Amino acid sequence: MKISSPLSQICAAVLLCASATTTYADAPAPAQPWMNAKLPAAQRAALVVQAMTLDEKLRLVYGYLGADSDWKKSKRPAGARPQSAGYIDGVDRLGIPPLYETDAGLGVASQPGPDVRQGTALPSGLSTAASWDTAGARAAGAMIGDEARKFGFNVLLAGGVNLLREPRNGRNFEYAGEDPLLAGRIVGAQIAGIQSQKVVATLKHFALNDQETNRTTLNVKIDDSAARMSDLLALQLAYEDGQPGSVMCGYNRVNGAYACENSYLLNTVLKQEWGFKGWVMSDWGATHSTIPAANAGLDQQSGMPFDLSDYFGPPLKEAVLNGWVPQQRLDDMALRIVGAMFEHGVIDHPVTVAPQQIDFRAHGAASQHAAQEGMVLLKNRDKLLPLADGARRIAVIGGYADKGVMAGGGSSLVYPQGGNAVPELEPKVWPGPVMIYPSSPYQALQRKLGKATLRFDDGRDPARAAALARDSDVVLMFATQWTGEGMDVPDLALPKQQDALIHAVTAANPRTVVVLETGGPVTMPWLEQAGAVLEAWYPGTQGGEAIASVLTGEVNPSGRLPMTFPVSEAQLPRPKLDGYPEQADARIEVDYHEGAAVGYKWFDLKQQTPLFPFGFGLSYTEFAMLGLRAEVRDGRLQASFEVRNTGKLAGKQVAQIYVAPVQARWEAPKRLGGFSKVSLAAGARTSVSLSVDPRLLATFDSASKRWQVAAGDYRVTLAAHARDAQASSVVIHLDAASYDVQGRAIKASH
Ligand code: BGC
Repeated sequence: MKISSPLSQICAAVLLCASATTTYADAPAPAQPWMNAKLPAAQRAALVVQAMTLDEKLRLVYGYLGADSDWKKSKRPAGARPQSAGYIDGVDRLGIPPLYETDAGLGVASQPGPDVRQGTALPSGLSTAASWDTAGARAAGAMIGDEARKFGFNVLLAGGVNLLREPRNGRNFEYAGEDPLLAGRIVGAQIAGIQSQKVVATLKHFALNDQETNRTTLNVKIDDSAARMSDLLALQLAYEDGQPGSVMCGYNRVNGAYACENSYLLNTVLKQEWGFKGWVMSDWGATHSTIPAANAGLDQQSGMPFDLSDYFGPPLKEAVLNGWVPQQRLDDMALRIVGAMFEHGVIDHPVTVAPQQIDFRAHGAASQHAAQEGMVLLKNRDKLLPLADGARRIAVIGGYADKGVMAGGGSSLVYPQGGNAVPELEPKVWPGPVMIYPSSPYQALQRKLGKATLRFDDGRDPARAAALARDSDVVLMFATQWTGEGMDVPDLALPKQQDALIHAVTAANPRTVVVLETGGPVTMPWLEQAGAVLEAWYPGTQGGEAIASVLTGEVNPSGRLPMTFPVSEAQLPRPKLDGYPEQADARIEVDYHEGAAVGYKWFDLKQQTPLFPFGFGLSYTEFAMLGLRAEVRDGRLQASFEVRNTGKLAGKQVAQIYVAPVQARWEAPKRLGGFSKVSLAAGARTSVSLSVDPRLLATFDSASKRWQVAAGDYRVTLAAHARDAQASSVVIHLDAASYDVQGRAIKASH
């Protein structure tokens, strides 16, 4: 049953609503029949909304910031958890608890202030995507869901899957890269993991919120079918796999209308076509109206006093009483909110604040494991890594590696136990503080490499650092790029003259391993000179241990890039970032003329050679992939093949299947159609079989709202990355086929 139907229709279908109000006399019904956990969530929601007054319904759709705010001179509501992102009153009389909301995808974040919560941070979202491990993403989601619940939250604002269309986007680290299949599957798994802990997750930011510059006024222009095959596909797959209870609409405008009052996106695509039954909350400060927003499908205003006005407060009441917003629309909002609360167990299992029950040791181990799975070895000349026993004099340079590892800035920032290891870094205010988690790679290496002598240089003086490098067997050169919410980086160069430092150090000693802690892709003008490069992303609160375990070979790296690393910005669809540097309140427009040709698809289309391709990553062992076969089984394209570990160490390979039509043209020469990460002992082999979602073989036809597969030959390629010279392929014929908007086969009518 759709909870989007008017309340009266739902009650007619459910019967119990009627009996709750009319048959008390002969058979006393329980006082709160919606508390019967055996009933379906939609039915329980219908029962309780039926019992609500107008003011109680209105209370559910109006959210507050859960922290005091200096800039707005506001105090958090009494019920809110201190220093939290959001709070919505419940209806105590009817047994509906408040919504306690916290950010976000890497763990339980805190608004800055005196009582920050100290928790466990996962590695960045890009690191999780780089793991290509959906089971791992689910487990990581369950870990942060558990932590959220025990800190007293029933909504985690986690589930960010904005596509990496703009490598300079300051929030890329929160998301899952440039490919809709990989990003959608990873974030869907994370959402499912969070919700397994009876905490509602939040798919965000809906939609096309792909840059931070002028994010609150930016208008994104994109063709509908291109959006469906790129950004919207990532959101759709994450939605299908994760079944999130809530969706957050973004700050930006899409084809003219603000995302939070965009009826096409919210009513048509999300609710009608995809069948989303939960509620849409606005981003904090992303509501711009009462009547247009409510009628366009926004169900809850968030984070007041962020918005200019209390649109879903008294003005919404007035609009409902005047009939400008139909009463049924308000009922629908309330039904969606309490429906998701019943569905995800937050009413039957109320949260309490019990941080003493958090197993921080186990959570730390989970974070470390996640970080290890996501590290990508990009270069390894002459097997410089893992560090050999013979390396006695090791220089560790730069990147605060003596103290800890970098984290990204903004609302997703998790404050660590032990506090900031380098508190003096600027900026200290939003989107700062620049946080260095107190997990030092230098100290972890020292513990693991008892026989070696480690010396640290902070890298501030390149000549001094080079002298140390010259006098060492091996150099571990740490470089950082801090990125954060509300700002983009001007270009892809490492900041603060680190390129010059790396030039000096690699020139002094070519046996230099560059360890990158970056928010996204960076350029590497020193790549030729470097001996090895490890992309460690923002590796979370156990990042130092995780990095040391990979450098020493305790862990064999198995991450693969979830995005392309360009040689330079000139290769991008927009060599210059639109709107940068930001002029406050400028109403800029970005034309996504590349359509669905995002990332490697753009590079393929333009025949450009990237610095490192999508899907790329080395291992300390070698693999062979062979025996590719493709067939159509039960109407689906299946690829099967074998993966062998041909080297001398246990390791993990990420097998990637790319698909492309032979005769027809898509937005780009090929798309990722499937992937599988396999773990193999030295010498071991395994058979893999993958099925390709038909939407990845189709183009979306906006007029008929169908995914159309054209009849013809299709090339199916088995590869280790998007530019793999060892790839093998087969060609298979596919018949024409149509799929509805959700990807379900439409039988041809005769
Ligand atoms: C961010 C959201 C976040 C919200 C609440 C906004 O600034 O865009 O991702 O969930 O704040 O903190």
